[in-house]
Amino acid sequence: MSSYERVTAHVDDPETLREEGRRKMDWALQHMPILQSLREEFADEQPFAGETIGMAMHVEAKTAILVETLALGGAEVAVTGCNPLSTHDDVSVALDDVENVTSYAVRGVDDDGYYAAIESVIDHEPTITVDDGADMVFRIHQEHPELIDSIIGGAEETTTGVHRLRAMDEDGELDYPMFAVNDTPMKRLFDNVHGTGESALSAIAMTTNLSWAGKTVVVAGYGYCGKGVAKKAAGQDANVVVCEVEPRKALEAHMEGYDVLPMAEAAAEGDVFITTTGNKDVITREHFEQMQDGVLLANAGHFDVEINLDDLDDLAVDRYEARDGVESFEMADGRRLNVLAEGRLVNLAAPVGLGHPVEVMDQSFGIQAVCVRELVENGDAYDAGVHEVPDELDKEVAEVKLAAEDVAFDSLSDEQRDYMDSWQHGT
Ligand code: NAI
Repeated sequence: MSSYERVTAHVDDPETLREEGRRKMDWALQHMPILQSLREEFADEQPFAGETIGMAMHVEAKTAILVETLALGGAEVAVTGCNPLSTHDDVSVALDDVENVTSYAVRGVDDDGYYAAIESVIDHEPTITVDDGADMVFRIHQEHPELIDSIIGGAEETTTGVHRLRAMDEDGELDYPMFAVNDTPMKRLFDNVHGTGESALSAIAMTTNLSWAGKTVVVAGYGYCGKGVAKKAAGQDANVVVCEVEPRKALEAHMEGYDVLPMAEAAAEGDVFITTTGNKDVITREHFEQMQDGVLLANAGHFDVEINLDDLDDLAVDRYEARDGVESFEMADGRRLNVLAEGRLVNLAAPVGLGHPVEVMDQSFGIQAVCVRELVENGDAYDAGVHEVPDELDKEVAEVKLAAEDVAFDSLSDEQRDYMDSWQHGT
């Protein structure tokens, strides 16, 4: 059953739902010059004719434009969500209406529904996979190894997914090539830093209707995402405290003007806590015990394991919905600790979460699209395992974006190129 059938079974006016989803997609497309350019190329050249692309991504408007772009290039595409709360049902229904696309994504599914939808995508027998978090690649390896021979390869969107794939690769368990889209400059210097920074903060502000000014914001993890969150929070006049486990990252945060504290000390200081580590149990019982009344707890990392909600539930004498997207856990001493979006990545899973700004996702999905093209054109050149995205593809996408923004930039002269390539020149 596609998303259209599943979602529309519960609404009175499916046509309005579809139209609203299409409107969101059209708005996104207007601001995605990279995908606009690739759509024209793919529509002309039909590079994906005969391929089936299986995708597990956050199904909202920008992703829908990527899906549609791949379908316009001749692919049959089957897509589902990569998080139970990040799907926009209207977009999923609109996407399901696109020729050669089937969407199985529905917001608010339980674990069984989530994996059943992944299975439905796998039933299409994909020849290429596009993942955000590696759940589909993992599932194919675990449950459907017979499909692997006919899979050319895949592309992975996020840090946690690449991490998982590298762990599989190191154990000799990754049996087809995967591009680490996350690791390209065009993706993580923009999407992880600016995208997560802007969208996590705006989702928290809109969910709570509270100000950043004068708040103490504790950011756990000073990687690409944490750096963006810290910078944007400081830009809105919050006092930022960073927690890190990597000494050079902790030093970087210190040198960039933030207070650096262990979580055991930051817990008593913070008004807002935002986790961006990709790790588990970053905030646990010992931290909850020290927190002030009214704190906000939000996660921007991929999985919902960074804030230990079992510990929080153990400590709570009551829990209730304080606002849409905010659950209050009341402690025996009367303190209320407020968890946003069930501890799932707040910028996408909060009811008002729109994910990253459109322009940023244009870049990330531009890389996804050229990676799929590279697999179709040169898939034989890649062995099973995790691969860096070829640098010329990353540069190609950057150049399209610069042209669209009407930004001119310099190029090397032949003499400069020779100089940069030589080692004989000294003082
Ligand atoms: P990263 O690897 O650059 O940064 C993670 C940082 O967390 C590292 O510096 C690491 O040392 C630190 N860390 C690990 N365990 C820690 C702990 N217990 N306490 C404090 N710090 C700890 O990764 P990146 O790119 O920043 O991604 C972080 C997470 O965000 C990943 O799960 C990624 O998939 C996810 N992500 C979420 C997005 C969103 O839309 N919300 C967008 C992009 C990535």
